Amino acid sequence: MTIAVCPGSFDPITLGHLDVIRRGARLFDEVVVGVATNTSKTAVLEVAERVELASRAVADLPGVRVVEVPGLLVDLCREIGATVLLKGLRGGADYDAELPMALMNRHLTGIETVFVPADRSVAHIASSLVKDVARHGGQIADLVPPGVAEALQARLAGS
Ligand code: PNS
Repeated sequence: MTIAVCPGSFDPITLGHLDVIRRGARLFDEVVVGVATNTSKTAVLEVAERVELASRAVADLPGVRVVEVPGLLVDLCREIGATVLLKGLRGGADYDAELPMALMNRHLTGIETVFVPADRSVAHIASSLVKDVARHGGQIADLVPPGVAEALQARLAGS
């Protein structure tokens, strides 16, 4: 039984994330989506809201669940018996950002990171760009799972 954790800020979850999660669910017995804090980013959505939106997005995927990562990712992995980290790569910039984290996580506990290439149809989608488009009044409904656009727009309108 191989459990993979797909970690990220998910601020908010996008169709790009969902593609990686869906494909991971075909590779591993269980995929746990780990909603974590990236200390180098300021999140727009509260962690509870990010967990809620991600949970709704994966509700129809068997073998997939969502949890909050309260501290170190590797601690969560140890706690739930996950032996793999799953991440998507859209291009070289992602690789440059992901490699140090993959190496650090392996240094900490020996856990391996498996990278899957982003599907071309969603490789242009990034949470940061989605927020930028939304902030400027653009349409994001076809970039994110149902319900996310409304939640993000409500949060941006209130901030
Ligand atoms: O979606 P992101 O922001 O690229 O994901 C980065 C994230 C949240 C997975 C990373 O910052 C993380 O793992 N945070 C949890 C705390 C942790 O384990 N930090 C050490 C990372 S090597």
